[in-house]
Amino acid sequence: MSRRVKLGVLISGSGSNLQSIIDRSEDGTLAADIVCVISNNAGAFGLERAHRHNIPALHIDHRLFAGRSAYDTALVETLQQHGVELVILAGFMRIITPVLIEAFPMAIMNIHPAILPSFPGLHAQLQALDHGARISGCTVHFVDVGTDTGPIIVQAAVPVLDGDTEESLSARIQVEEHRIYPRAIQLYAEGRLSVEGRRVVITPSAPASAVSLENPAA
Ligand code: GAR
Repeated sequence: MSRRVKLGVLISGSGSNLQSIIDRSEDGTLAADIVCVISNNAGAFGLERAHRHNIPALHIDHRLFAGRSAYDTALVETLQQHGVELVILAGFMRIITPVLIEAFPMAIMNIHPAILPSFPGLHAQLQALDHGARISGCTVHFVDVGTDTGPIIVQAAVPVLDGDTEESLSARIQVEEHRIYPRAIQLYAEGRLSVEGRRVVITPSAPASAVSLENPAA
């Protein structure tokens, strides 16, 4: 049985992944509620998406802080004030520090537009094109102190086609991003994710017959 998990979503830009999570939360297929959206960038369209759905949307400008740790301290305070349980990085184009990671141990997820561990860091789609990769895709992972190195939760692959540009490949990858990010969050909400070393173990969902055997009255 899943309960509704409180999400804090960090963005820097368009927020199409944010939108996919809002949509799944509202249509009842995702047992989670977004309790705040934070952007480091005032012009991020994702803030407007949050407003339209009556979700608290905050601009916290990284340029007003002395350094990355000071900025992350402000993020942690805001996330905790809103009762956030799981932090969702959705196109948040900032390197985060141990200040944030230690405040939410194995409770920060990121989406990356490549099949990790290939092509971490910036411009992952361009990296795949430059390497002549025939397959690319996206990865949802828990965040650790490295860049795109944390335990992998869900991945999806897409073909790289002859003639692809960074834009056309990104668009194909985003279709899959919008499918697998809500899926990874739902697995978390159902309590089915555990981390063993580098690996995420996904507990199978209980078959309906097992439930009725344990509790014939159910
Ligand atoms: C997504 O494609 C995501 O994978 C990427 O930014 C995009 C944000 O799009 N993230 C990274 O590159 C992180 N290194 P969105 O704002 O429309 O969700």
